[in-house]
Amino acid sequence: MALVSETDPWWKSAVVYQIYPRSFADSDGDGVGDLRGAIGKLDYLKGLGVDVVWLSPVYRSPMDDNGYDIADYRDVDPLFGTLDDLDELIAGLHARGMKLVMDLVVNHTSDEHAWFQESRDPSSVKRDWYFWRPAREGFEPGAQGAEPTNWASFFGGPAWTYDEASGEYFLHLFSPKQPDLNWENPEVRAAVYDMMRWWVDRGVDGFRMDVINLISKPIPLTDGAVAPGQPLSYDVSQVANGPRMIEFLEEMNREVGIGERRLFTVGEMIAVDVDRAREYTSQHHDRLGMVFTFEHVTLDQEPGGMKWDLKPLSLPDLKRTMARWQKGLGTEGWNSLYFENHDQPRVVSRYGDDSPEHRVASAKTLATVLHLHRGTPYVYEGQELGMINAGFTTAGDYRDIESRNFYTIATGQGVPAERALAALAAKSRDNARTPMPWTPEGGFTTGTPWLPYNAAAPEINVEAELADEDSVYHHYRRLIALRHELEVVREGRFELLLPDDERIWAFTRTLRDEQLMVIANMTSQVAGVPMGSIPSLERAELVLTSLPAAADDVQTLEPWESRVYRIR
Ligand code: NOJ
Repeated sequence: MALVSETDPWWKSAVVYQIYPRSFADSDGDGVGDLRGAIGKLDYLKGLGVDVVWLSPVYRSPMDDNGYDIADYRDVDPLFGTLDDLDELIAGLHARGMKLVMDLVVNHTSDEHAWFQESRDPSSVKRDWYFWRPAREGFEPGAQGAEPTNWASFFGGPAWTYDEASGEYFLHLFSPKQPDLNWENPEVRAAVYDMMRWWVDRGVDGFRMDVINLISKPIPLTDGAVAPGQPLSYDVSQVANGPRMIEFLEEMNREVGIGERRLFTVGEMIAVDVDRAREYTSQHHDRLGMVFTFEHVTLDQEPGGMKWDLKPLSLPDLKRTMARWQKGLGTEGWNSLYFENHDQPRVVSRYGDDSPEHRVASAKTLATVLHLHRGTPYVYEGQELGMINAGFTTAGDYRDIESRNFYTIATGQGVPAERALAALAAKSRDNARTPMPWTPEGGFTTGTPWLPYNAAAPEINVEAELADEDSVYHHYRRLIALRHELEVVREGRFELLLPDDERIWAFTRTLRDEQLMVIANMTSQVAGVPMGSIPSLERAELVLTSLPAAADDVQTLEPWESRVYRIR
């Protein structure tokens, strides 16, 4: 195995696995996953070969947004277990050579957090810890349109809620139970850094930072642009990437000792472009290890629209977008590589073909192209099985706050129910949240799962995939091993081939005199390859394929066939 130099960030050779604890493994039969459930699956993760576990929030929370609304940053919610369980999870991961990254949700707290409770009193010293504002000038407090700005919340409706007791509004870019913290106040920042140090001292190895580029807002808060026919502003530039972003990130680094302790950081960033992401992830500064960008997961929605305005994906768009990020971050910044997480639909249903005929090959091929880009790959629980979308058909099937709000608001505005349901079926966050199927019967809980199993669980489950050498799971295992083995996977320069081809995704990775070539048919039909446009395969060794027996030449590729060649 090639050695990564001591000074190189260790996560360049790492693969991250995301656990959404509510849906991963339930140890006590209450139908909700928990920490002891996860502890029981550590050998499974080790077998897959991942290096890092990102744990979605397990903090004390009223669960308005499944834990992204935190009421106590220093405790575990009883639904998930105890701090002792978390210590055991950390120890179990470390004992197996893996690391733990916590979700850090500090743009907002829960309205049930003690800080917000205190802040409700206008004379409290914590009043300024959140954004409290009077009604818009000339309006009666509480009247329609009296909100201090015209911003929409990301979960629908105005981003301000009126508090009758104090006669003022508070800001919440997400649900009213998720009030935004005021990062302009140095006491807020100090309290967050203190809490982060507490977790690092407990043994965590880094943080996935929730919507982190919302912490600096352009001050003063002002109205945003309104699209025709919309009552509220969805203009994210008014709320994201404020002028103090870099200052806050550098301060956090210093105060928490992120650089010195070689902690892993990934910042989720709404509305970030390549140039800004390069600044945030630049290796010349201690800011962020990498960012989660959204461009490649918004290509199947109407431009300027919302995620519910569906549009078919164009393969050239996807390839070119990802290539632009590869080039743009170059050797100065670093990419995160993801298709799925707890907010995104299942990629095999979205960008692949989830029919029984093509599911396995398309899941493998999507994994291959993603993992062989330059950056740190993320696997979301169940993705390694090629899990498909939930297939819900009625509004009552959905549990997710964003999905439920969308349905109520859209149908209330006259969108036909069938259209709203089609949008939910394609994009709802619950698609990714069905319980992890460990066995053909489910095996996630002995009780009733909080969200039903995917109807495909009898076919798509861990037990079946472990037993089948040609499964999606074993393909992920091989891809992860390849990243650990080959320096060219980590460091190689990226070059997109055939950028305009509507069917083939091909690229090379080059390091010194070694090259990898990835070539993939991204359709459910046989596709021809323009041979003059790809490197000669004379001295090439085939290192990975999506189909059990690949033909000798690549002039034509079977549906969803992908191949990885090593050329030396
Ligand atoms: C992004 C998280 O990934 C999502 O699940 C959550 O609802 C919002 N941030 C608000 O915290």
